[in-house]
Amino acid sequence: MNRPPTTPRPAGHPPRPRFARRLARANAAADARGGAAHRRELLCPARGHVVEVGCGDGLNFPAYPAAVARVTAVEPEPTLRDLATRAAASAPVSVTVVDGVASRLPVGDGEAEAVVFSQVLCSVGDVPAALREARRVLAPGGVVLLYEHIRSDRPVPAALQTVVSPLWARAAGGCRLDVDLPRHLAAAGFAVDARRFGFAPSPGAPPVTFLLGTARPA
Ligand SMILES: C[S@@+](CC[C@H](N)C(=O)[O-])C[C@H]1O[C@@H](n2cnc3c(N)ncnc32)[C@H](O)[C@@H]1O
Repeated sequence: MNRPPTTPRPAGHPPRPRFARRLARANAAADARGGAAHRRELLCPARGHVVEVGCGDGLNFPAYPAAVARVTAVEPEPTLRDLATRAAASAPVSVTVVDGVASRLPVGDGEAEAVVFSQVLCSVGDVPAALREARRVLAPGGVVLLYEHIRSDRPVPAALQTVVSPLWARAAGGCRLDVDLPRHLAAAGFAVDARRFGFAPSPGAPPVTFLLGTARPA
């Protein structure tokens, strides 16, 4: 099934301008604490046509390497989409920001050399659907690039994350702290080559486990 970019798709998310502005501030703070270096590491293997899912305000754009021919940056929230469109104007590679959601990307089958998930799979709701959609749009030999916080692999913090996630998600635009992404990736048939590390995106916050690296259809 080929789905060209002009095919009608479900509307993106309703506007949440206050959340969008808070997110932009929090992201900038996290980048100052080391997040910017993580983003550069994330995007280092990117080549050709890249689809970035849930691009937010476009913080990744400056880190795309010259080997990238073009980026289709998908963002469902209108305020963030506007901010990303502005960021795209000064990106080092060609970036087109479009409306869309992870479970139905406005990209045809096999059109992307890379799909980027950068702190987005915590928020999409249906992670298996997002991973199926990534597989659909990936060209043979294509790669998923991951920079995601995931559920702790220690039982006590993991249980705490499950308890606080519903409340946290209400305050943080649907972000859940307890997504078992390695399990989802394995179930979706991806082979993962990624490092895990603790990172506290904001001062005073406890570190959460991040996964940074690649996943390829096995
Ligand atoms: C924590 S922000 C990360 C933004 C950006 N990727 C970054 O690394 O700075 C999560 C993003 O996921 C987007 N998002 C939430 N649900 C989504 C969905 N179902 N499909 C695509 N993006 C989604 C949000 O609008 C937001 O831009």
